Amino acid sequence: MLKITMKNTALMLLAGTVLALPLLSSSVSAQNDPIASRKAVMKSVGGAMRDPGQMMRGQAPFDLAKVKASLETFVEASGKMSALYPKGSETGGETTASPKIWEAKADFDARLVKFGADAKEALGSITDEASFKANFPKVGQNCGSCHETYRIEKK
Ligand code: HEC
Repeated sequence: MLKITMKNTALMLLAGTVLALPLLSSSVSAQNDPIASRKAVMKSVGGAMRDPGQMMRGQAPFDLAKVKASLETFVEASGKMSALYPKGSETGGETTASPKIWEAKADFDARLVKFGADAKEALGSITDEASFKANFPKVGQNCGSCHETYRIEKK
């Protein structure tokens, strides 16, 4: 009788652990996977660049609401990015982040701040197609200049 009870208890504990494990590991990986997080943030930034990029090239009609939505995405992303490059996340997860980031974190962070500030300024200054064409490139320059220094191409 006692033996059966103990066996049942052990089984229940085991079942509980097995059930709890996936829950635990998914919440831990969301917090402890800065590489996946920053890639996701950058992917959203890349996605937000598509519409204004086409408008700049004259491949899509100017749409102020879309431009503003993209700029909001940039502002939000710039604020999130710095914390997603902690020490220890230099390699792995198919990152294309350059090791230079961790040698010059202050400069990298300053570029993120500038990216956010430029996007915020553009939110104020872009009111029509002419001001879009005049002011959006300043925001876009942040992408290439940061990537040039702080991103490596995967071989
Ligand atoms: C301050 C630096 C910085 C700025 C500004 C910046 N990026 Fe990035 N970007 C990075 C770094 C670093 C990576 C590599 C992240 C990794 O793989 O860990 C990256 C990766 C990407 C990726 C690949 C994401 C993936 O799928 O892995 C895209 C797309 C991208 N950036 C687009 C943009 C666009 C578009 C802009 C401007 C609107 C921009 N970035 C501005 C630093 C920056």
